[in-house]
Amino acid sequence: MTASSYLNSVRASYDAVAVASARQLGTELAGKPLDRAMLAAFAECVRGAEGGGGAVADLGCGPGRVTAHLGGLGVRAFGVDLSPAMVAVARRTYPGLRFEVGSMAALDVADAVLGGVLAWYSTLHTPPAQQPALYREFARVLAPGGHALVAFEAGDERVRLEQAYGLPVDLDVYRMPPDRIAALLAGAGLTEVARLLRGPAPHEHGPQGFLLARKA
Ligand SMILES: C[S@@+](CC[C@H](N)C(=O)[O-])C[C@H]1O[C@@H](n2cnc3c(N)ncnc32)[C@H](O)[C@@H]1O
Repeated sequence: MTASSYLNSVRASYDAVAVASARQLGTELAGKPLDRAMLAAFAECVRGAEGGGGAVADLGCGPGRVTAHLGGLGVRAFGVDLSPAMVAVARRTYPGLRFEVGSMAALDVADAVLGGVLAWYSTLHTPPAQQPALYREFARVLAPGGHALVAFEAGDERVRLEQAYGLPVDLDVYRMPPDRIAALLAGAGLTEVARLLRGPAPHEHGPQGFLLARKA
């Protein structure tokens, strides 16, 4: 898949499932204490940074539920997503928060201004050869001392997804080993702070990975 064709597929697929995914994911975090623990640690790191911590970009925010969760943890969070339908759902659901259409590979954000960057299951559709550019972009927008948190499906395979939320989609999911995600972060100048690998919750395929990193 070329760079533009995979982006077109991701955009069209998430446009198609925006409403259904918002409905199904709505309260999903409530049943995932370890995921919430990583988000809480990330929020605390951002809040505790020198200068009180800058804003946090939730990249690939989808329906905005994690952006809102971060807001509840006391950080100034905004969302960015490739899918206009996802952004419309997020704006409708959380009218007090800011959501923009955009690509996490080319953010409309100045250098070194953010306290945190979250990529919650949103880097996993990007072909591995193009992932280093994503992490370089995360590092570019983070202020010194800023944190990045990445959630991903752990494994080492490409999975073709033709259905999601009961609707047809055209997506590849790249499962990756935690060490490879850590290497991508390190390659961009983001040093690993902590990682979590947890077993699958019901309806998940296998282990789920979470990596917290910091810009020096
Ligand atoms: C599995 S969903 C996760 C959504 C959200 N983070 C959540 O957990 O509720 C992946 C999201 O990432 C977005 N996405 C994928 N690649 C992207 C990119 N290059 N730039 C911006 N958004 C992207 C998709 O449009 C989709 O909304």
